[in-house]
Amino acid sequence: MNVKPSHLFYQGRERKPVLDQARGVYMWDVDGKRYLDGSSGAMVCNIGHSNENVLEAMRRQMEKSTFGYRLHFETEASEKLAAKTAALCPAGLNRVFFVSGGSEAVESALKLARQYALAIGEASRWKIISRAPSYHGCTLGALAITSYAPLTDPFAPMMQAMPKVPAPRAYLDGLDPHDEATGHHYADMLEAKILEEGPDSVLAFVVEPIGGASTGALVPPRGYMERVQKICRRHGVLLILDEVMTGAGRTGKFLASEYWDLEPDIIVMSKGFAAGYVPLGAMVAHERLVETVLDAGGFLHGYTYAGNPLACAAGLAVIEEIEREGLVANAAAMGEVLLSRLRGLMARYPLIGDVRGKGLLTAFEFVSDRRTMAPLPPEARAFARFVDLAYGRGLIVYSRRTRGGYSGDHVLVAPPLIVTAAQIDEIVGLLDETLAEFIAEHAAPETV
Ligand SMILES: Cc1ncc(COP(=O)(O)O)c(C=O)c1O
Repeated sequence: MNVKPSHLFYQGRERKPVLDQARGVYMWDVDGKRYLDGSSGAMVCNIGHSNENVLEAMRRQMEKSTFGYRLHFETEASEKLAAKTAALCPAGLNRVFFVSGGSEAVESALKLARQYALAIGEASRWKIISRAPSYHGCTLGALAITSYAPLTDPFAPMMQAMPKVPAPRAYLDGLDPHDEATGHHYADMLEAKILEEGPDSVLAFVVEPIGGASTGALVPPRGYMERVQKICRRHGVLLILDEVMTGAGRTGKFLASEYWDLEPDIIVMSKGFAAGYVPLGAMVAHERLVETVLDAGGFLHGYTYAGNPLACAAGLAVIEEIEREGLVANAAAMGEVLLSRLRGLMARYPLIGDVRGKGLLTAFEFVSDRRTMAPLPPEARAFARFVDLAYGRGLIVYSRRTRGGYSGDHVLVAPPLIVTAAQIDEIVGLLDETLAEFIAEHAAPETV
């Protein structure tokens, strides 16, 4: 462990091991300790670490050029990646705007939506409805549509408050997620909110089709997404899908929205889109929006590093690798194995109140009582402690709090899409040991 003073700072003072190398699903620190990357970093490294084909594509691009400012040059790499991305998105979503991360992609979507409203003479539309809880990024625009109190509250006075509707957490509300009435119940809350705000003032609804860190891999109840789309159409509200975490195969489809054949107006991606090889994200918009905005004078937005050829060459190689290795299908198949193994842990540990997810975006949530779904006492800081204990055993997992950010600890298990059944055994074995150790530290709930 490196204990030398550091000039770096991120969240707090805690120091971490120094990374030496990473290959496939494993990472090693400079002391030679091995870690299984059970969360793909922050659900990023979808194709695994140090993929030779991607590194080779990056080397080839680096020999030619690493940067060409997008307002000075077009590049073969960005054209090819844009074409490939458009081909993987629903019909009509064929205009691609590259950025360097998820927050930038979300900001870009909000601004394109606003410019579209202006261009079609609907200047009164500016409100963006999103869900509570949700996470859409850390920049002030993306944060305004995020609902995660510890991250949003301190900055509230600096942001334009935006309306929120409850995320469809049927498991907490005692509703059956397989019953269409449940999906409609939550979707209708969106319609009620649009009517309350005044439909002419609502610009867009932004939603993660399958929840990420804020809800812990929340799969919407039956009927929810289709009805949400209908409601948006009915009121002229744009549907923006945040696939920053779910995109690029993570949930067992290239886009999670394919589970419902959605036809959104904009999709944003990052994370697995370049799988950690370079900072890269994309906003993919319907040609109707883009052509209208371009006709009205152009998109008033952009980032210096956006669409640079090195990032795009890496992104293209990542998608090609996903296709060549059949990683979307592997995510679907291995996701089933992982979910059933996590349910096996739930059967043995009353501490686990819910297991959920799709493909290789899975999570389990801790409760102190399964009958009431009461969370663990917040002061136990289970989300942080569990991750530390797992880390000590050489397993990396990711955790957050589902209930507004202050309680309701959940753990995300989301290994790279190249994971094998044997490696899932290894993950679940380490989780089992970590659960036993965690329970030994805390009083375990008594009832299953
Ligand atoms: C769903 C979602 N949207 C947006 C973001 C923001 O992405 P970034 O951290 O790359 O800015 C994240 C990051 O976790 C995310 O999970």
